[in-house]
Amino acid sequence: MPGTTRRWVLARHIQGAPTPEDFRLETLPLPELEDGRFLSKVILSSVDPGTRSRLSGGDSYAGAMKIGEGIDGFCVAQVIESRNPNYAVGDLIAAGGGWREHFVSDGRGYIQRITDRRVPLGCWIGILGVPGLTAWFGLNRVGQAKAGEVLLVSSAAGPVGATAGQIGKKLGLRVVGVAGGAKKCAWLKDQAGFDAVIDYKAERDLTAAIKAACPEGVDILFDNVGNAMVDRVLPLMKLRGRVVVSGQVADYNVPVEQRHGLKHTDVFITHRVRMEGLVVFDDIRAFAAAQSQMADWIADGSLKFAIEEFDGIERAAEAFCGLFRGENFGRRLVRMSKDPA
Ligand SMILES: NC(=O)c1ccc[n+]([C@@H]2O[C@H](COP(=O)([O-])OP(=O)(O)OC[C@H]3O[C@@H](n4cnc5c(N)ncnc54)[C@H](OP(=O)(O)O)[C@@H]3O)[C@@H](O)[C@H]2O)c1
Repeated sequence: MPGTTRRWVLARHIQGAPTPEDFRLETLPLPELEDGRFLSKVILSSVDPGTRSRLSGGDSYAGAMKIGEGIDGFCVAQVIESRNPNYAVGDLIAAGGGWREHFVSDGRGYIQRITDRRVPLGCWIGILGVPGLTAWFGLNRVGQAKAGEVLLVSSAAGPVGATAGQIGKKLGLRVVGVAGGAKKCAWLKDQAGFDAVIDYKAERDLTAAIKAACPEGVDILFDNVGNAMVDRVLPLMKLRGRVVVSGQVADYNVPVEQRHGLKHTDVFITHRVRMEGLVVFDDIRAFAAAQSQMADWIADGSLKFAIEEFDGIERAAEAFCGLFRGENFGRRLVRMSKDPA
């Protein structure tokens, strides 16, 4: 058993865009296992844009992180020592381990056994993990998606957006994506099967481009970006349209008082529009059914995903910071150790 392990902690509360200097990599001893606990070796860790909302010292839905606290994230890991009857050495799990090489757990919290090895392990913290499940429940439960409707997805090339758009296509919707750059847009059209894609970085008038791509209006806005996008699209919403508030990646680095406000709220009345957010864990009881359907689609090649791997724990902070510059192509993961055979 290793005597020590490494993890990233918050070095200071962050103002504006995160930089690697906001984090610190530390080495710490691994304690003797107490009864009821097990030790896991991390294989892959995720870096998640939503983590940013906890790093400025103010509470978000998950509570503010303190200086010196370990950075959270999701991981795929293998149990290497166990004093917990429910977890045996060799078990593969997806859990909320954070940016670290090992973690000790008492079996409580989000831990899922990985039994389906048809898909790459990284999928269990990507398209079959929190991002894919956010897309699934955001579109189905919150968005109430129906065949024939028009779905507009922002940050469409990210793991949440790309999955939401593809689920929308499977449900029979017309799907339009907004993403940054030609490479992301080409992938969404050619691989993910979106009906239309708008490269917002190349458009001088984004509202006009969205109008042109959705001439009859928008039934569902699946928003990953934040208030400026919601306010831009509100006047284009159809009667009884739905705005699914999935994430606010453009707003996480901006203090609340400087964020874009919503001006077009009259549309909620005139068009009976509904706007609702979600926390993916609200639907935890239904995860297994959604994962089983999506795993089948991945296995038959009809649900596409992109994974970018960064090698070694040293690269976690760098991988995270790039999310806010649009550098990620799909799900960003940090490889902590090799896949088991
Ligand atoms: N509600 C929940 O339970 C839940 C769970 C998981 C994730 N989420 C949220 O879902 C959203 C998407 O997550 P994800 O993991 O799929 O990440 P993601 O969309 O890949 O996020 C990174 C991407 O966001 C875009 N972006 C970054 N800064 C931006 C800015 N200032 N303006 C516009 N776009 C910007 C960039 O794409 P472009 O190059 O296309 O600009 C970048 O590549 C996030 O907001 C996340 O917090 C919510």
